[in-house]
Amino acid sequence: KFFYDSDADLSAIRNKKVTFVGYGNQGSAQALNLRDSGFENIVVGNIDDEYKPRAIADGFRTVSISEAVSEGEVIFLLIPDEDQQQVWKDQIRDHLLPNATLVVASGYAVAFDLLELPETLDVVMVAPRMIGAGVRDRYVAKEPYPCFVSVERNPSGKALQTAIDLACAIGATRGRGAVESSCLEEAGIDLFAEQALWPAINTCFLQAFQVLKGAGFSDEAILFDMYLSKEPSEVFERASNVGFFKQLKFHSKTSQFGQLRGTKNSDGTALKAQFEKVLHKDILSGDFARYWSNSLAGGATELEQLWKDVEEEPIQIAENNLGLQK
Ligand code: NAI
Repeated sequence: KFFYDSDADLSAIRNKKVTFVGYGNQGSAQALNLRDSGFENIVVGNIDDEYKPRAIADGFRTVSISEAVSEGEVIFLLIPDEDQQQVWKDQIRDHLLPNATLVVASGYAVAFDLLELPETLDVVMVAPRMIGAGVRDRYVAKEPYPCFVSVERNPSGKALQTAIDLACAIGATRGRGAVESSCLEEAGIDLFAEQALWPAINTCFLQAFQVLKGAGFSDEAILFDMYLSKEPSEVFERASNVGFFKQLKFHSKTSQFGQLRGTKNSDGTALKAQFEKVLHKDILSGDFARYWSNSLAGGATELEQLWKDVEEEPIQIAENNLGLQK
């Protein structure tokens, strides 16, 4: 289902007190868009870091997070996903107005129950599929961009209209419209790409490098052919324009034959089983979210170790020898 500009009515919501928690990529873009859509009561809640002066320079009243939250009828939570649980607990939860609406731009924290949500709080997702600069630039240029919208909690019975109105106010219901989704769907697909799809692709590149190197081919030649030439980025660019397989038409007949035959002869059974496990056992069960929250609470030392481990990979060593930028 899609929601369009014509489904929105900004006349009432424009007068609400709106709080932005965070003034980074999304926070700055969405706050500026909202203001240009006629919202006059916007306050930014930000910690004392380099983002705070930016909010002030852009003309927003800027106070502490808890103070901003205590005023907000609509609260945009736009700080990094990995910080939301702790900030919610320490600076937001106890300062909420009873009938406020929480707006998230990513499903992660809500889908995996990382926030203790009061019963009376409406919770919606308005999640641009676009970096913050794009959200701002397209709004100004009156161009559409993709966005997911969902209602997660609806004690007021009005959450859907609020979500559509806010999506419209940030310019996300133009053109093809905003897509109805859910926090679990948005976060699930995102985490699946991060934890199943890309690791499989990363593994392909690691193994391909080792096999080719083992055959005596030079590091430079392998890396240039595999990705330093930017061929994969061109392939994906074309895939997004004409289609995943149709982009093959831009390659030689030999390449088309090799790729289609190679794909047909590849046994994806083990990969599919691995994907199913990651999706159901790790992601949708909430195990990953709990594991990552604990790891973050302990200082994310495992992430540091993983970075150290990857330094030992032959492909990484070859890149270092080639003097690629760190
Ligand atoms: P960001 O990294 O630009 O956020 C910076 C803001 O977070 C600053 O205001 C900073 O003061 C605040 N912040 C950072 N750490 C904090 C902490 N420990 N305590 C309090 N405040 C803290 O974040 P970004 O990229 O704008 O993401 C915000 C939300 O939007 C996330 O839920 C993200 O998943 C979502 N999103 C991001 C997109 C992107 O292109 N970056 C695209 C679509 C959604």
